[in-house]
Amino acid sequence: MNKKIIMSQERLLHGGDYNPEQWLDSPDILKRDLELFLKAGINTVTMGMFSWALLEPEEGRYQIDWLTEIVDQLYQKGIYTILGTPSGARPQWLAKRYPEVLRVDEKRQRNLFGGRQNHCYTSPVYRQKVRKINVILAKELGSHPGVLLIHLSNEYGGDCHCPLCQEKFRGWLKERYDTIEELNRRWSTTFWGHTYQSFEQIESPSSKGELLLHALNLDWKRFVTAQTVDFAAQEKKAIRDGGCQKPVTTNFMGDYDGLNYRKFKGVIDVASWDSYPEWHRKPVPQTAAETAFQHDFMRSLLKKPFLLMESSPSSTNWQEVSKLRKPGILHAASLQAVAHGSDSVLYFQLRQSRGASEKFHGAVIDHYGGEDTRVFQEVCQVGETLGRLSELAGTVQKPKVALIWDTENRWALFDSQGPRNAGIPYKETAEKMYAGMRRLGLDMDIIDMEDDLENYRIVLIPMLYLFRGGIGDKIREFVKNGGTAVMTFWSGVADDTDRCFLGGVPGKLTDVFGLRRTEIDGLYEGEENAALPVKDNFLSLERRYTCRNLCELVNVSDARVLMTYEKDFYKDLPVVTCNQYGKGKAYYICADMEQQFYNDFLEAVQKNDKIEKPLPDIPDGVEVTTRESEEATYVLIQNFNADSVNLKLPDHGCEVIYGETEGSLKGLSSVIIKI
Ligand code: GAL
Ligand code: ZN
Repeated sequence: MNKKIIMSQERLLHGGDYNPEQWLDSPDILKRDLELFLKAGINTVTMGMFSWALLEPEEGRYQIDWLTEIVDQLYQKGIYTILGTPSGARPQWLAKRYPEVLRVDEKRQRNLFGGRQNHCYTSPVYRQKVRKINVILAKELGSHPGVLLIHLSNEYGGDCHCPLCQEKFRGWLKERYDTIEELNRRWSTTFWGHTYQSFEQIESPSSKGELLLHALNLDWKRFVTAQTVDFAAQEKKAIRDGGCQKPVTTNFMGDYDGLNYRKFKGVIDVASWDSYPEWHRKPVPQTAAETAFQHDFMRSLLKKPFLLMESSPSSTNWQEVSKLRKPGILHAASLQAVAHGSDSVLYFQLRQSRGASEKFHGAVIDHYGGEDTRVFQEVCQVGETLGRLSELAGTVQKPKVALIWDTENRWALFDSQGPRNAGIPYKETAEKMYAGMRRLGLDMDIIDMEDDLENYRIVLIPMLYLFRGGIGDKIREFVKNGGTAVMTFWSGVADDTDRCFLGGVPGKLTDVFGLRRTEIDGLYEGEENAALPVKDNFLSLERRYTCRNLCELVNVSDARVLMTYEKDFYKDLPVVTCNQYGKGKAYYICADMEQQFYNDFLEAVQKNDKIEKPLPDIPDGVEVTTRESEEATYVLIQNFNADSVNLKLPDHGCEVIYGETEGSLKGLSSVIIKI
């Protein structure tokens, strides 16, 4: 990758959201901010996302000077700007004069002015007003040497059910299905006799109307994504038309499932996201694993370095409890983002606002305003570390293992009224597989069904209920050519409009996995079964593992059985199987297994496939990732336990470029080696 894609200098970005518009009447505060930024090693600020009312105080009267002045001042001190477009929150005058820009909810009620990220993404007026301000910003600031990157809007999300959006939706469906007969067929509308006679009859899903036609719900979500992506593309076009050629990003929200983020691939040049884990609700190593999953998901969108666009330097103020981060967590969490491919650590927010809804959100500079605060000191430490790690900027990860985590699958799975309405363990299963693999220090991509599989050795496929994007053929080819696929229960059930496959499932893959699902049992809360190893199974699985929630029953044709159920009327039926297909292996996991199973099983698979680990022994709670450049390989090792762990580094030619280890690694500390 061209290292200069993200930055004009080869360094890691440190800084975050900055709202000087809230302090224009206090020049002393702005001056003080600058001093403090320099002390904390802050080299980047994100500005402008919520400045529309100041940038265009009346329709057509633009005032950009104040912003240009601040960009200049920062740049003179070596601080770069990520320039936000202001579409996330509109001015009062705009909403009053053009009510069509206000979103309509699923009950068909129009919003009043207020809040943010609640515009109609179809409204021509809104699009035009956003275009104008974006063109002007691009003209005024788009070529400024201090501007690194354009940040489209802020956390796109939500849907609008206004007449303009309904009309657009119908057009989108017409494009997709061509005739109403085809739509009826694909949506299974003969069920309850809900057949449409024309596209004009179609309405978006609503609790006052149609909510149980799964294919309608699915296509509505696809449309909302398409329309939001189109809105973002128009924003980008305005930036380009204004003469700005800087790379473009928009900040995502990790596993927010209102949008299929993959579809933004063609619009953004850099992926970025806002990470707000609750570090102290669960054990820290577990939160670390869950957060790592999100980082990998975001990095895998473009498969190159991403940006941690927002994170809190201490607590948030919107989660149930505003928990402080214990000392050391900020540093570890920040370095973890870098370890997973981020070229930045950016915060929300640099200076705490004085009033309104985020006045108690954590910030680098709080209301007290001094540098002698715990948080400011910890931010300084992060700045110091990032300053020492410039050579990591632009380095990439090359995972041999991928996990398929697909947003459209998630939509369909949870809507399906299937084997367990009381809870479908999709995320849990994905996270258990991920954690089991990551314990071995193997990097992972989190991909979706539209991605290619051929660059991986192992592909993990949790609960892939819906098949689309030719995934069945891709899995077949992947295994045939020597890959290892591990697929779980409740996969390959339905096609891309949620119609069940006929003639045996997993759909079109029964020969690849050497089995056919016959039934699936939902278990009550607290109910358990267990998997017992088959004697002398080739993976040497020896333990008993509990399973919960879902237990699938299969008929094996060719697959070898490695584990069987302990009890119930399906006692002795297979739980874990493996089929040799072509040059590869297709494993199938029939039940929702406990974490320990995935730990042991995936380690056995890794050994069986002879995939090399970056370190021979990785203690529990220690994360290992690898970033590479053409010249060097960096192994980042982070201990997320509170206590020290024993750690043996490779004896041959490696240089410790960060951290200390004399055979052990202290709690919450990290070491980076260069090979
Ligand atoms: C983000 C948002 C920021 C700020 C932050 C608070 O979701 O983009 O503007 O509100 O949350 O945690
Ligand atoms: Zn609308």
